[in-house]
Amino acid sequence: MAEVRKLVSVDDMTKQWWESLYTCCRDIIARPGVYADSCRGKILVTMFYEPSTRTNFSFQAAAQRLGAGVFGFSDPIGTSVSKGETLADTIRMVASYSDTIVIRSPQEGSATAAAMYSDVPVINAGDGSHFHPTQTLTDLTTIAQQRGDISDFRIGLCGDLKNGRTVHSLVEALAMFPGISFTLISPSELRLPGYLVEGMTAHGQEYTETRSLADCISELDILYMTRVQRERFADAAEYRRLKNVYILTMKTLDSAKPDLMIMHPLPRYGEISPDVDNDHRAKYFEQARYGMFIRMALLLEFMHLPRQAPPPVECRPPSAVCGNPACVTQSDTYLPQLLAKNSTNICGYCDKPISALTL
Ligand code: NCD
Repeated sequence: MAEVRKLVSVDDMTKQWWESLYTCCRDIIARPGVYADSCRGKILVTMFYEPSTRTNFSFQAAAQRLGAGVFGFSDPIGTSVSKGETLADTIRMVASYSDTIVIRSPQEGSATAAAMYSDVPVINAGDGSHFHPTQTLTDLTTIAQQRGDISDFRIGLCGDLKNGRTVHSLVEALAMFPGISFTLISPSELRLPGYLVEGMTAHGQEYTETRSLADCISELDILYMTRVQRERFADAAEYRRLKNVYILTMKTLDSAKPDLMIMHPLPRYGEISPDVDNDHRAKYFEQARYGMFIRMALLLEFMHLPRQAPPPVECRPPSAVCGNPACVTQSDTYLPQLLAKNSTNICGYCDKPISALTL
């Protein structure tokens, strides 16, 4: 099996790698005591440039349950980042003190950039509205634990499909599994980005799009609710207009299947009414707990990898920078130009079309 040395996007995963990770996760759930010292002497660093509860704390809990030490920040204000240090230099330093780095940033492509300068594995804990691959590991674990396997279901993805990074990674990851169909439920303003829709077509993934949750809920095996991502809106009035577009209530569930699984990466902000929490179909709190176990499996693997210097990064100034205002190349202008795999016109950091390049 090819060695996986970083997890910045679903492209870093293979089905075989997922299967071995999940096997390890199941053993951790069954026999947690066996793993209590398995990362003793190792150090995890958590760099959170954006707010987090579940992801940050579940990584910290995962590391400590393996016996590892953890340090990091949940706000860069107390670090040299506030003195203007580049991401590349910060990562070089942090990598020299640690065995694995977890990074969350509002900038799309930041984890890809970080991995280019790190001797130790880098894990993307969310890069802007781009990807969130360890939430996807959490989601896959939840589905596998609840359904027995990951195949043959219709999943409804509901809410902010444009800005929700958990949805983006999940859609890509589900291409590895057979018999999965999608119902994309969003207002037209919050549709799934074009590159992901094209990817679904290329992978032969069947999907339909609708604005109405009530109209399609009876067909779903899994309903994946998401929060309208206020922090990604340039226009506050547009956010206010869209924020309550979906509210899942017990009444909406009247026509749902009795074995529907309701998932949500959390936090929620009104899109699932609290009375749904007591319904046997609500799985979002269990989902959050599975996240800690699959992150333990991931850290167990990554923290034991030997340090490895990355290939030297080209120092030539880029001839162009990506026009996506949220792309990491906008702030870290020393980064070399990168194209997405098998493409001549997609930015390799943020996956936005290169037609947006400006000189
Ligand atoms: C999500 C995120 O940060 O993208 N939360 C999480 O990590 N579980 C979802 C969200 O913030 O809406």
